[in-house]
Amino acid sequence: MASSTTLSFAFTPTQLSSSKNGLNSVSHVALPKCFNNKRMKVTCMASIPADDRVPDMEKRQLMNLLLLGALSLPTVGMLYPYTYFFVPPGAGGAGGGTVAKDALGNDVLADEWLKNHGPGDRTLAQGLKGDPTYLVVEKDRTLATYGINAVCTHLGCVVPWNSAENKFICPCHGSQYNNQGRVVRGPAPLSLALAHADIDDGKVVFVPWVETDFRTGEDPWWA
Ligand code: FES
Repeated sequence: MASSTTLSFAFTPTQLSSSKNGLNSVSHVALPKCFNNKRMKVTCMASIPADDRVPDMEKRQLMNLLLLGALSLPTVGMLYPYTYFFVPPGAGGAGGGTVAKDALGNDVLADEWLKNHGPGDRTLAQGLKGDPTYLVVEKDRTLATYGINAVCTHLGCVVPWNSAENKFICPCHGSQYNNQGRVVRGPAPLSLALAHADIDDGKVVFVPWVETDFRTGEDPWWA
């Protein structure tokens, strides 16, 4: 809807009497009324069509860009924490694997790990989907090519390694698994899940295990 703006112009009597042309020079913006006030000045009211005050297209585009930028910055700022939460740094890796993390959240370096963990050792690292997963050190002081998921297949307790018994023994209901994670006593119905433990650029990388379970000769129940 069209609207108008009022402008005020003040002229002295001298100016008014000697500048008819001056008044005429602003008449193109329509000066419908001039008023005498008490100080002998003349006030003229001018109406400017609303269309004359609309910014041209370039200015409008610039304003739109500025508005878009102002809205985008906080939006990106809000999205970042969510992205960080669901896709933590370090996730992914060669062949779609996940770099193993130690208890401090640092990448597991195979050489460093083997310096601090002797033959027969089974120590937890962070594995696929954040699951606690045992890294196994073989008798020849190499890392086993598999990791053992520590989540009990009964009701999900984390199963600790018992080196004295050479077994994983669940503290919740007593299920037992041998040193490779094969179930040897219930109530757990299944063996602990496996993951490949590869070494890529010196780092231990867990990769989903989709092949036959070498402990049972059966298809992996977790794949
Ligand atoms: S949760 Fe491990 S035996 Fe029940």
